[in-house]
This record gives sequence, structure tokens and C-alpha cells, in this order.
Amino acid sequence: MIFQKRTHTCGELRIENEHQEVTLNGWISVLRDMGGLIFIDLRDRYGITQLVIEPSETPELAEKSKELKSEFVIWAKGIVRKRENPNPKIPTGLIEILINDFEIINRSELPPFEIKDDLETSEELRLRYRYLDLRRQSLQKNFIARHKLYQTVHSYFDSMGFIEVETPVLMKSTPEGARDFLVPSRINKGRFYALPQSPQIFKQILMISGFDRYVQIVKCFRDEDLRSDRQPEFTQIDIEMSFINREDIFQLIEGLFQKIWKDILNLEISIPFPRLSYYEAMTRFGSDKPDTRFQMEIVTITDIVKNCQFKVFTDTINSGGEVALINAKGCAGFSRKKLDELTEFAKKYGAMGLAWMKLQNGEINSPISKFFNTNELDSIIAASNTEEGDLLLIISSNKLRCYTVLGALRNEIAKQTGIIQNISNKFSFLWVTDFPLLEFDDEEKRYVSMHHPFTSPMDEDLALLEKQPERVRAKAYDIVVNGAEIGGGSIRIHDGSVQSRIFSLLGMSQSEAEAKFGFLLDALKFGAPPHGGIALGLDRIVMTLCGTENIRDVIAFPKTTSGLSLMDGAPTFVDEKQLTELGIKLINS
Ligand code: AMO
Repeated sequence: MIFQKRTHTCGELRIENEHQEVTLNGWISVLRDMGGLIFIDLRDRYGITQLVIEPSETPELAEKSKELKSEFVIWAKGIVRKRENPNPKIPTGLIEILINDFEIINRSELPPFEIKDDLETSEELRLRYRYLDLRRQSLQKNFIARHKLYQTVHSYFDSMGFIEVETPVLMKSTPEGARDFLVPSRINKGRFYALPQSPQIFKQILMISGFDRYVQIVKCFRDEDLRSDRQPEFTQIDIEMSFINREDIFQLIEGLFQKIWKDILNLEISIPFPRLSYYEAMTRFGSDKPDTRFQMEIVTITDIVKNCQFKVFTDTINSGGEVALINAKGCAGFSRKKLDELTEFAKKYGAMGLAWMKLQNGEINSPISKFFNTNELDSIIAASNTEEGDLLLIISSNKLRCYTVLGALRNEIAKQTGIIQNISNKFSFLWVTDFPLLEFDDEEKRYVSMHHPFTSPMDEDLALLEKQPERVRAKAYDIVVNGAEIGGGSIRIHDGSVQSRIFSLLGMSQSEAEAKFGFLLDALKFGAPPHGGIALGLDRIVMTLCGTENIRDVIAFPKTTSGLSLMDGAPTFVDEKQLTELGIKLINS
């Protein structure tokens, strides 16, 4: 077989190429034998072109074409001609190639699923045969967007005077919040490297080295529970700067997103992005990553109901909790069954129950309305801007839980009532600022950092550090788009003594802090400049650009939610010999 190299791609030919002789290479997408004519849709990553054989003119080609099947790789030579039945849906749809010669370059077994965009096969099967899955144009377009994003990021940061520096993939285990993936050392038996959860400490050390402006597109590894927007290995756009304040980071990143949206979606986004404090985000939207494309804000009614006759509410309030609600506009028609489902939903997020009120025919319809006087009911209606046909969903619980349950209900109602679908082409960016520095971990019975231990407390809160640690705010910020956290960062601690105080608040003894982070504490002694930075979740940015909620759609070879790579079978057991070399003995479970 003589391979004939393509003169054009399968996405290239137009009516202007009529009468030209061309050669195409590609995969057979669809074959149709109409008797008088044989049609072959030939596909490559650039598109699809229709090939045609006329059995009356070239009976030998028609005979040879009987061997062809889907996904065979062929070359085909022929003349471009105008199509009798144009296909306006594809760019090559005005032409077809009347072929005068072709050969099979390679055959294919029957694929386990059809290579097409609106595929209804299980994701497991797709991941097992990822090479076939990736032939689909709907996935290929995500990787083209991802590629463009790399280019934009590199050119933007280069133009801003940043230097890309690679940091180690084999490093010391320095937990940042999640669990580390460990790598045994053959040369140093019994010792382990860790894969970086992020290059956090290295980028800070680069600031101490004077690099001033660092950027890196970098793989990070975290052994944590996976979700639709989380992978064990993912990519960050990692940034650090010296001699700056928070405003410099905000400006830099807003400029970056403006350029990304322009370069990739050809959309103008307006800057500066709105800012919400953590407290405001939680009490208005019930989330530290609120979807601000739609309203449905939370209304706190603790003051209105504090003297009502409903004991569930008053008991909660007396023990320091809150009562709050969302107004599901126009949802008074929800059935009892649907309300029961929403109650179950709220319980999954930790609520004890869900109370509701409907405004129907000018009256309040609710199992709990008898516990409130007219004044209280009127005030609830006024505060929540309730109109005929609205449904109020009310939660009473401790403060954090009350708002997070309502935040989850807010998103759920938006999904169920089609609000989200109607705004799917809108982008709503915002900064969430002023996070608490620490949160109390009930399981570990100690404070843990809300961002990471290197985040600077606010100067004015430094005095509270040991006395009221839960009240200390951090110089930390997240960037959020459409309800997804696409980045987070902070101004760092550049004073070794403050860093030591934080380690001790986190329950680390001095010797433990020395053992884990001694190299950072040492480096901080040698003239550390004030510095800060941010890391953006590159995969999540691509998800937003491509409009997918599944992170596996933007990673070429992803893991399943149970951490498996179905194509190559990782993780696998290894030979006894390999383990012996590493000095590792497995415990039989
Ligand atoms: P953080 O842990 O917030 O910050 O991570 C930054 C961003 O990375 C993305 N991200 C993930 N994406 C996919 N899968 C995951 N498992 C995953 N985990 C995080 C998110 C997140 O906002 N060193 C700090 C940054 C800094 O302070 O400069 C850090 O890693 O979009």
C-alpha cells in the first residue's frame, strides 16, 4: 500500500476549491450506500468532508469500498465538486469529493461506542477507551480552548515582567490541608518524597531569592475525596509577587481574565470585579463561592420571629442560632411531595427540618403560620418581598449551618426552576475577601487554617491571635465565577516570629514546626520581602469557558471519582521485586 499524504485537512475545503484534485487522510465517520451513490464522511480534528463514489463510473472503487467500516483510516484522492444537497451545519457542507482512488491505511475493530457528539454511553466505557472518546469533536474543542488558554497565560505574564520558574515535583511532605501522595526513595530506603499539593513554599522562597514576579503553569497533587470539579492531579496557574498589596493582585488577575475571555470567547468582561466579604457572602448567599448570576438572596428573620410561639425557632435563637429564609419566586405551586424532597435535601446539608410558607389567594398557607401573629407574618412578607404565588423556605439552625443549607437550597431551586439554564451564557465574577484565618476542626479538636498556614492575619487583628483566634481575619481572597471557586490566594507572613505563632496556634510544638517547616522559618530569617500571590485552578477555568460541569471533560486522561485511571488501570499492584528494592513490605489486609 502506498500512503498518499493529504493535500488538505477534512475541515478545509470550500466551494472556492471546486474542480481541484485533492487528497484527504482521515477516519471514516459514517458510511452510506445509497445504491446509486456511496457516501463516506471522512473525519479528522479539523472537521468532516463528504466523499462520494459513483458505482456506475468507478465500479472497482465501489467494490473495494465494501471492505470499509467505521473508524478505518484511509487516504482518498478525488475532485472537489459542488454538493447537490448542501449541509449548512458544517463548514465544508457546500462541497464533496468525487473520489477516483483510495486505499485503507489501517483497519479498526468495531468501536464499543459511536464516535459522535451527543453520545449516550456510560462515562466508564468512554474513559476505558479514552483514545476513541477523544476523537469526538465536542471533547477536542475543549482541548483547543485549553491550549489557547496556555498561550494567553504565557504571553500575558511575559508582558507583565513575570518569570516562569519550575519547582520540584518530588519534595518534602509539608501538608497544606489535604493528604500528600508519597513517593518512596530507593536510594534512601524508608524515606519518602511527597508530590506537591501546590508550590506554595517554593514560590515564597523564590520571593526571598529576589525573583519578584513568579508564574508557573504547574501540576498539583492532592489525595482528597474527588468530586465533579476535583481531580487528584490538577493544574494551577501559580503566581507570586513581592513588594505589593492585595490591590496589585486584584488588578493583575482582573486584567488576565479580561484577556482570556477576549482571546478565547471574544467577549468583553467588565472590571473591576465586585467584592464581597466572606461574612456578606455567607449571610446573603449562603456560600463562600456564591453564584451571583441570579438574586434569590437570603433574608435573616431572627429579629422578627424572636418572640413568636414556634418553639423550634425560639429555642434556636435562644441558643445563639439564626432563622433565615429564601423566597422561591412563583413556586407556591410546589406539591407536598416536592416540599418533602426539599426537606430531605436540606437534611442532607445538616438541617433538622425545613419550614415553608406559601402566599396563595392573598393568604399565607403554611403548617406553622398559627404560631405567628399578624404583625410577625406581615414583617416576614415585607422583609422577603413576598408576592402572590411565592414560596418561602425557612431554616433555623446554628449560624453557619443555617446559611449553608439555605445557600444549597438557593442553588437547587435555581436549577429546578430553570433559572440556571436561562443564564448559562452569563459570567459573573467576584472576589470574596476577609476570610477568617482559622476554623475549628471538630474531628481534630484544634484550629486549622482556612487557606493555608502561610497566610498573613490582618494587622489590626494580630493582637487577637492568641486570645480570640476565631475572630482573626486573614489577608486572603478567593476569585469566584458563576458559583465556582477558580482561584485563591493571600498576602503571606514574611515575619518568622508571626509564622511561628501561627504554627503554635495550629497545635504544632516548636520542634514539630522546626521538623516540618524549619527550612521556611530559616529562609524567613534572611531578609524576606513582603509578598503575596494567588493560584488559579486552570482546569476549572477551562470548564467555565467550555460550559461543562465535569472536570473530566477538560483533562485528557482523568481519574474517576474513585481515583482510577480506567484506560491504563492505574493504580496497580507492583512486583514484589520493586517493593523489595524500595524496602517496602505490604501489610496483608
Ligand atoms: P488553593 O488550595 O485554593 O490554593 O488552590 C487554588 C485553586 O486550585 C483549584 N483546585 C483544584 N482544582 C481541581 N482539583 C482539585 N483537587 C483542586 N484543588 C484546588 C481551585 C482553587 O481555587 N497555594 C495556594 C494558592 C496561594 O495561596 O497562592 C493554593 O493552592 O480552583
